Amino acid sequence: MKNIIIFDTTLRDGEQAAGTTLNREEKLEIALQLEKLGVDVIEAGFPISSPGDYEAVKLIGSRIRESSVCALARANVKDIDRAWEAIKDANNPRIHVFISASSIQMAHQLHKSPEEVLELARTMVAHAARYTSNVEFSPMDATRADHGFIYSLVEAAIAAGATTVNIPDTVGYAMPDEFGGLVSSLFENVANIQKAVVSVHCHNDLGLAVANSLAAVKGGAGQVECTINGIGERAGNASLEEVVMAISTRQDLYDVNTGIHTEQIYRTSRLVSEITGFQVQPNKAIVGMNAFRHQSGIHQDGVIKMPKTYEIIDPQKVGVPSSSLVMGKLSGRHAFKERLAELGYNLGEEDFKHAFDAFKDLADKKKQVTDRDIESLIADEKRIYAGAYHLEKLQVTCGDGIPTAAVMLNCPDGELRGDAALGSGPIDAVYKAINRIVKVPNSLTEFTVKSITEGLDAIGEVLIRIESQGISYTGRGADTDIITASAKAYMNALNRLLAEGNNG
Ligand code: KIV
Ligand code: ZN
Repeated sequence: MKNIIIFDTTLRDGEQAAGTTLNREEKLEIALQLEKLGVDVIEAGFPISSPGDYEAVKLIGSRIRESSVCALARANVKDIDRAWEAIKDANNPRIHVFISASSIQMAHQLHKSPEEVLELARTMVAHAARYTSNVEFSPMDATRADHGFIYSLVEAAIAAGATTVNIPDTVGYAMPDEFGGLVSSLFENVANIQKAVVSVHCHNDLGLAVANSLAAVKGGAGQVECTINGIGERAGNASLEEVVMAISTRQDLYDVNTGIHTEQIYRTSRLVSEITGFQVQPNKAIVGMNAFRHQSGIHQDGVIKMPKTYEIIDPQKVGVPSSSLVMGKLSGRHAFKERLAELGYNLGEEDFKHAFDAFKDLADKKKQVTDRDIESLIADEKRIYAGAYHLEKLQVTCGDGIPTAAVMLNCPDGELRGDAALGSGPIDAVYKAINRIVKVPNSLTEFTVKSITEGLDAIGEVLIRIESQGISYTGRGADTDIITASAKAYMNALNRLLAEGNNG
């Protein structure tokens, strides 16, 4: 069976999504999880775009062993040299060279004629091919370009050494039949096409990124570019989990395979959401909170009798943790450790101690601790940075009077400091009290809260975004008390800000 190469661009196109800044440790954490997920190629970033991105790509290249690590470059010598510098120590480095190919972009943005673009594609792919035989070429905005011109560009790029040729639907304009047709037409109109893998890169402006990618697979594509949770420019990119699960669920239609370890999908989705601060919509296919929940009585009845009556995918196949009762107040250290191992967590002694304390705390407040709760709790523990501020104590009064908060923080110098403030509401009061201690100017730009499981004692998860000097930082916190979760999220965002040395 033909294998479809899964090229993940969460760390490049996904990071481009408005408002996201990931530091190199966060990018590495995602990259390591992508490797566990089994993606074939990780597009780690665009090294020329900033020193921070260069460093992140370099770090990822030095740590990833299984997947190929790819760096993006425009079709010029400086970009390509910088990309190569960043990935040259990777196990299997790839340079991805792109250039605009539609009349509108060539004329109004690039200010170059088609002949000049063709020449640049040829010479710059050849330049990249001097460094490595693993070169990808993308004629940007291919779906709005003249098809004859795309054939010439692709043929020239392959002749110059490209081993992957990617057809981007940059602005999400194509329809599935049309896009599948464009991909299959390459095999008839490009003489040397057999020497390269045909790839596709679809954006979701009309909600068709996944459908277009699947149509391209039918048309002969051998690589699909996608992102976790479909994040990316504007409406995003094709979602990895949807493409992979469509191929796997409809084997009767797609005679192809991917190397994705599907049981890692849910974990990867949660990690990306947590680090980027982009919530996954509840009804999102495969990884949304409601993707495997059944509301109607008839459906619930069917699923109890036989899951396949209303479930086309077994939730365990994509690693969705069960929301049935697993542990409680009386569960001991050993049982907790075993449960963590079953969920795929392998914590060191110190981390385990913190996680167990947090679990005991939670079991005191909440009778039924589910896998989802444990997963949320571990995510919380992981976000507590060494040497940063920790929330020790929090007390809030609110209601009809004046909302007031008192906080006690464990500070990086080891001292405990406390302060109090009034606010327009309880969260405002908490944030003001924290500000009186941490003293880092910033503004809160986003705040969302959702519950992890059902019931009045459910854990509430808060995701926030703060901005300082034009850079935004995300924070996450979870607790059965949403004011405490909000305080944790704020501490998390502040710690990220401080870790970047951006403290005004
Ligand atoms: O959408 C696009 O065209 C891109 C290219 C750089 C491949 O992201
Ligand atoms: Zn793109």
